[in-house]
Amino acid sequence: MMFTSTAMAADAVSVKEGLRIATIGGCHDCHTDGFAASGGQVDPAKALMGSQVGFQGPWGTTYPANIRVALSKMSEDEFVRYGHEIKTRPPMPWFALHAMTDNELRSIYQYVKSLGAPGDPAPAYVKPGDAPKTPFIVFAPPQMPSQ
Ligand code: HEC
Repeated sequence: MMFTSTAMAADAVSVKEGLRIATIGGCHDCHTDGFAASGGQVDPAKALMGSQVGFQGPWGTTYPANIRVALSKMSEDEFVRYGHEIKTRPPMPWFALHAMTDNELRSIYQYVKSLGAPGDPAPAYVKPGDAPKTPFIVFAPPQMPSQ
């Protein structure tokens, strides 16, 4: 049946599928420096290596992690379990990983592994009230509707 074969093909594990899922999932938007500003070009030298620009809000200041580093510390099976359980501070959409199938997580893993040397981790989390040492973007509405 046509539907079945299409569904199976879409769920097959591959590096190419991992790039597709990372694109749909918006992973590069935050985890690849320069991606959003370039209109969606993935610079292979920077792909998923995180950002030096923090996101600041009531949670403190968080940095999109270097996913190559995070995945260099786990096997593919470990990443599948991690993907189902991950919970982070904002604005990481950890619930997007929960919504992925095992095979989608496997494709992401294989795509990240194909990208090359992990490089350095992103800057560490900074607590609310502490001053970050890097540039950061503040999540603060410039105005709120009146009550
Ligand atoms: C809106 C920005 C944003 C998007 C989109 C985003 N992330 Fe994140 N991600 C972050 C931030 C910020 C952190 C750090 C959170 C913290 O410090 O608690 C993070 C953390 C992570 C971590 C934890 C790394 C570690 O060291 O444990 C993983 C894994 C991850 N992201 C994967 C992904 C994947 C896969 C996608 C695409 C489905 C994605 N992220 C999309 C911002 C984002």
